[in-house]
Amino acid sequence: MKESRKSKLDRRAFFKKSAAGIIGSVGSVYAHTNFRVANDFKRPSSSTDLNWSTINSNFILKNGVTYMNNASLGMPPMIIVDAVKAGYEGISKEPLHGKRKLQDKISKNVIPLLASTFNVKTDEVILTRNASEALFLQTLGLVLKKGDEVVLSTQEHPAALKPWIHRGAKDGVILKYVFIPSPLVSKQDTINRLMSAVSSKTKAISFCHVTRGGHKYPVKEIANLARRKGIATLVDGAQAVGQFPIDIKNLGCDAYSASLHKWILAPSGSGFLFVRDNAKRFFESPFDLKAFTINSFFDPPGTKDYPVRAAVGTALNFINKIGLDNIEKRCRYLSDYLKDGLKKIKDVKILSSDNYNLSAPGSTIFEKKNLDALESVRIFEKRINFHIDEHQRDGHDAIRVSTHFYNNTDQIDLFLDTLNSI
Ligand SMILES: Cc1ncc(COP(=O)(O)O)c(C=O)c1O
Repeated sequence: MKESRKSKLDRRAFFKKSAAGIIGSVGSVYAHTNFRVANDFKRPSSSTDLNWSTINSNFILKNGVTYMNNASLGMPPMIIVDAVKAGYEGISKEPLHGKRKLQDKISKNVIPLLASTFNVKTDEVILTRNASEALFLQTLGLVLKKGDEVVLSTQEHPAALKPWIHRGAKDGVILKYVFIPSPLVSKQDTINRLMSAVSSKTKAISFCHVTRGGHKYPVKEIANLARRKGIATLVDGAQAVGQFPIDIKNLGCDAYSASLHKWILAPSGSGFLFVRDNAKRFFESPFDLKAFTINSFFDPPGTKDYPVRAAVGTALNFINKIGLDNIEKRCRYLSDYLKDGLKKIKDVKILSSDNYNLSAPGSTIFEKKNLDALESVRIFEKRINFHIDEHQRDGHDAIRVSTHFYNNTDQIDLFLDTLNSI
């Protein structure tokens, strides 16, 4: 159901009346006591707010707070909190059996579910603590010698850069940084920039599927071109996974690292590493040199955070039940709404493309003249209890607003009114 222009105007007038009233009304979409509806909801039939209210009642965000920083850390719904709690209870009540039960669940349910969600084989993925750990494993694991070159974009996250800087210092690998502008110009421009840095010494291209600021790279096209030249492609999928359906096999990259505690809404401290079956020969690992599958080859040994890993299954079930296609549409609906509003505010420059091929559904970055982004984060929290983030990178002093399906247009209206008044 499309909201009428009049009701939006009425709401805007209402918002201007009282800050306390606003915060109460915006925060009340999260019904703390209703978390058990998790399995009762229907797949939403459209992107508007009304269809998502039942799903949103699974979240337990503190009343009065509005969370628009999902790109930093996802806000798990109550069923995830319950799942982690149940895992720890199992270990505490009966450590031996509790642990075995969780290990069983992880290998028999969680890994297969993870693999099927992203269309990879179960022995091509391992669970990690986060994307950073996976990025370290994939980058430190690639077999390279002194003088080999690696192409990187200037938009990489420090988590992806650090292991490469280490390889540069320790192994004499040469890092070639390619400047990529914000907003992205076109798919072809991104491809051309990265590929024109390739030389006969290039052994790998390392880049994001979706950058920290929400720019979307053409992974499949880059992986295709690289493969024809015998170059490995190592992808950082931390910001991509959970925002839209992803078929990693079809992308064709050799390694893919991701967070699960961002857009998948899994418990904090969860991520995964994928290494393509027939790319394993390009990698080495200190953990099990003779292993044939990526699981034991790359998986650091020892006792794991079993309750967290088991709860990843609950998160994947929750997300899959809603449908990643639905989540993509809903996130687009909200970020398009946000962008439309930003375009009407004086002195705002949006750095996220309108083109769906170039931007992720959930994250929007923009600059406002004479507004320091870091300062704005403080102002939004102080004035209206909104949590957003800065994006002071790549020469930009930008603000990042990352809206997941649980946000709504009322919250965006309030955000825009406040931005307008700063
Ligand atoms: C693009 C990108 N890569 C990697 C990371 C690191 O993710 P994690 O905290 O799961 O290690 C982030 C975190 O914000 C990110 O935005």
